[in-house]
Amino acid sequence: MMTSTLLRCCAVIFLTHLFLIGTIGKEFPTLDHIRTKVDDATQQQTVEDMIFRTVGDRFSDFSVVVDSSFLPMGKEAFQLDTVGSKIVIRGTTGVAAAHGFNHYLKYYARCQVSWTVQQVHLPGVLPPVTPAVTIVTVNRYRYYQNVCTVSYSFVWWDWSRWERHLDWMALSGINLPLAFNGQEAIWQKVYLSLGFTQKDLDEHFGGPAFLAWARMGNIRGWGGPLPQSWHQNQLELQHKILARMRNFGMIPVLPGFAGHVPAAITRLYPNASVSRLQWGRFEDPYCCTYLLDPQDPLFSHIGGMFITEMIKEFNGTNHIYNADTFNEMRPQSSEPNYLSKAGAAVYAGMLAGDPQAIWLMQGWLFQARDFWQPAQTKALLQSVPEGKMIVLDLFGEVQPIYNTTDSFYGQPFIWCMLHNFGGNLGMYGTVKTVNQGPFLARKYLGSTMVGTGLTPEGIDQNYIMYELMNEVAWMPQPFQILDNWASDYAWSRYGVKNSNASLGWQILLKSVYDCENGFKDHCDSVVVHRPDLHKTQRSWYKQEDVFTAWDHFVSASNDLGLMDSFRYDLVDVTRQALQEWAYIYYQDLMETYKSGDLIKFRDAAEIFQQTLSDMDRILATHQNFLLGRWIEDAKSLATNDQERSLYEFNARNQITLWGPNGEIVDYANKQWSGLVADYYAERWSLMTKALTTALMEGKKFNHTAFLLDVFQQVEQPFTLANKAYPNYPTGDTLQVAKELHQKYRPRTL
Ligand SMILES: *[C@@H]1O[C@H](CO)[C@@H](O)[C@H](O)[C@H]1NC(C)=O
Ligand SMILES: *[C@@H]1O[C@H](CO)[C@@H](O)[C@H](O)[C@H]1NC(C)=O
Ligand SMILES: *[C@@H]1O[C@H](CO)[C@@H](O)[C@H](O)[C@H]1NC(C)=O
Ligand SMILES: *[C@@H]1O[C@H](CO)[C@@H](O)[C@H](O)[C@H]1NC(C)=O
Ligand SMILES: *[C@@H]1O[C@H](CO)[C@@H](O)[C@H](O)[C@H]1NC(C)=O
Repeated sequence: MMTSTLLRCCAVIFLTHLFLIGTIGKEFPTLDHIRTKVDDATQQQTVEDMIFRTVGDRFSDFSVVVDSSFLPMGKEAFQLDTVGSKIVIRGTTGVAAAHGFNHYLKYYARCQVSWTVQQVHLPGVLPPVTPAVTIVTVNRYRYYQNVCTVSYSFVWWDWSRWERHLDWMALSGINLPLAFNGQEAIWQKVYLSLGFTQKDLDEHFGGPAFLAWARMGNIRGWGGPLPQSWHQNQLELQHKILARMRNFGMIPVLPGFAGHVPAAITRLYPNASVSRLQWGRFEDPYCCTYLLDPQDPLFSHIGGMFITEMIKEFNGTNHIYNADTFNEMRPQSSEPNYLSKAGAAVYAGMLAGDPQAIWLMQGWLFQARDFWQPAQTKALLQSVPEGKMIVLDLFGEVQPIYNTTDSFYGQPFIWCMLHNFGGNLGMYGTVKTVNQGPFLARKYLGSTMVGTGLTPEGIDQNYIMYELMNEVAWMPQPFQILDNWASDYAWSRYGVKNSNASLGWQILLKSVYDCENGFKDHCDSVVVHRPDLHKTQRSWYKQEDVFTAWDHFVSASNDLGLMDSFRYDLVDVTRQALQEWAYIYYQDLMETYKSGDLIKFRDAAEIFQQTLSDMDRILATHQNFLLGRWIEDAKSLATNDQERSLYEFNARNQITLWGPNGEIVDYANKQWSGLVADYYAERWSLMTKALTTALMEGKKFNHTAFLLDVFQQVEQPFTLANKAYPNYPTGDTLQVAKELHQKYRPRTL
C-alpha cells in the first residue's frame, strides 16, 4: 500500500545502538527457532496496511522499513526518524515497526489507539523526530493472553473486531500471542477418526462462552453442544487470525494436548488408564473431566494426532504449544515421579506431532503452594529438557513464582501482568510492581527470564494498566516519575493537554491504581455480588480520592467533551464514584436495618436503589458499557433460532450464574447498563423486600431462604430470558455525568 524508501544512511547508527545493549540473563539457543518465518517485505506490507486502517489518508506521511538483518539474536528494535516531510519507521520485525509507529502516535502526534476507543486526530503537520530515536527491547518475547481471555472477551467477535484487535496487538509490540480459535474443529476431526461419536463430543465440548474451561478439563459439556456452524466460523476466523499474526511477524502459540478426553474413552478404550479431576462445585454431568493417564501409550498417540491435524489445517506451525494439565486441579498423586512422567508425556505428545515443539505452560497451578512444594514443582518443570518449555509467571505483579523456585529450576519464563479476573470493571491496578517487577525479575540471580507478558482473564477495562505494561516491555529501566507518565497518558488519550484531566489521572494512579499488595480475586463491589448482611469492600485507597478525581474529570469535560475516549473515561470514573456511593449507602441500609426503624430503613433502601439506577443511567450513555452489545454480538454469530437462543443463554449465564446452579456466581460480573438494572438492582430490591418483611414481622432475616428466592426469582430467570437490550447508547454522557456529580458530590460522608 505504501512505497517505502530504504534509507541506508541510518543503518550504521541503528546497528551500533543495538550492540550497546548488553545481554542480561540466560540465553536459550533451544528457542532460536521460535521466531517469525515471514519475509521482511510481507511484514512491511502488513504494517503499512495497518497504518492505513489506523490513520486513513495520512498513511502517506509515514514510511515503513522492516529489516531483519539488524536483528541480533533475540532482540527487537525500532527507529524513528524524519526524512523530508516523512516520518520514517524502521523495525527489525513488523511488530517492532508497528510498535515504533505507536510510539510516534503517543509521544509525538499525541494519539492513542486502545481496545475500543481510538483517538487518532493527527496534527496537520506531523512533528518531526530529530534526532532519530532508537528503542531496543531486551524482552525477546512480549506475550499476550490468558487462556480465559478468548472466552471472557473475544468469544463473540467477528473478523472486523479481530482485525482491529490484531492491529492493537502489533501496535502494542506483542509478538507471542495465543491463537486458540477453532481448536474444537480440529478435535472433532481427531476424535471422530478415533471412533468417538458426535454425541460423545456434544457431551464433551463446552458452549461458546465456556470453551476455555472445557479445554482445561475444568468442566465438560456446559453451555453446549457446539453447533457445526460454530466450528466452521471459528475455523475460518482462525485461518485469518493466524495469517495476520504471522504476517505481522508474530509467533502464534497453538494449543497442544493436555490429556483431557471425552468420557466415552472408557467405552472405546476399556483398557485406557484414566482418572477424573474435580474443579470447584461443578457436578455430574458437567464434572468431572477424564484425564488420560500420561503413561498410557494412547496419550502421545492422541497428542500427536492433534498436532499433526492442526498443522495440516493451519498450514504450518511456529512450533510453540500451550498445554495446562493441572490448572486449578489437584493431580491424582503428589509423587514427584508421577508428575515427572505426566510432564514428559505431555511433551512427548507434542513431539509426536512436531519434533521441534516447545511447550508453553501457564504457571498458575504453582499458586497452590500447598500441593506444589519444591519437589513437585521441580519434578514437573524438569520433566522436559532445559529450554524446551517456557513458563508464564502468570501473576508476576502480585505473586511471582520465579523467586521461590530458583527461576523455575532453569526453565525460561515470561514475567506477566495478570491484573484482571473475569473481565470485571472496577478500577484497580498495582502500578509500582508493574513498573518495577520485570526489571527485578531480570536482575534476579540466575534469572531465566525471556520476556514480559499480559495475561488478563478479560480486557476492556483499566486501559491505563495495559498501556503501562506495554511500554515497560520496551524500557531499559522503570519510569522514574509516574506522575509525568500519567500526564502523557492523558495527553495522548485525548489529543489535547488538559491540566484537569492530567490531575485526574495522577490522583487515580496514586489511589485505585496503586494497590500495594494486589489481589488474588476480583471486584468486590456490593453492587455486583449477591446481597448479604455482612458485605465489606476492600479499601486500599481513599474514597475521597475517587471523588476528587471525578471532580477533575467533570471539570475537564467542557474542553474534552467531544472526544469519545474522554467520554469513555468520564463514564468509567462516574461508575467508580457511584460504586463508592453504593457501598456507603449499603452501610446505611444495614445500620437502619439493625436499628429496627422501618421508616428509616425504607428511606435508606430507596436511596440505595436510586444509586444503582443512576449507575445504570450513566453506563447507558456509552457504547462500551452496554449489556445489549454483548448479547447482540452473541446472537449475531447464530445461523438459526436454536443457535441464537443457545448463544444468548451462554452470554447471559457466563456473566451471572456461571454454571447451572451459580457454581461461580458473579465471578465474571460486569457493570453494564441493562445488567445493573435488570439483574443487580433486582436482586437488591428482593433483598430489601425480604428485610422489610423481616422488620415488619419481627423475625430474623433468613439468608438461606433468600438465596433460594434470589436464584429462582431473579438469577435463573435472567439467564433464560431473551429481552432485547439496546446496542446503542442512550442519553448524553456529559449531561448525565454532570447531573450525577452535582447530585452526589455535595453529600458529606
Ligand atoms: C484389554 O486388556 C485385556 C487384558 O490385558 C486384553 O485381553 C484385551 O484384549 C484388551 N482390550 C483391548 C481393547 O485392548
Ligand atoms: C502455506 O505456507 C506456505 C509457506 O509456509 C506458503 O507459501 C503458502 O502460501 C501457504 N498457503 C496458504 C493456503 O496459506
Ligand atoms: C518475590 O518477589 C516479590 C515481588 O518482588 C516479593 O513480594 C516476594 O516477597 C518475593 N518472595 C521471595 C520468597 O523472595
Ligand atoms: C480546570 O478546572 C477548573 C475548575 O473547574 C476550571 O476553572 C478550568 O477552566 C479547568 N481547566 C481546563 C483546562 O479545563
Ligand atoms: C430458612 O429457610 C430455609 C429454606 O426455606 C428453611 O429450611 C429454614 O427452616 C429457615 N430457617 C429458619 C430459622 O426459619
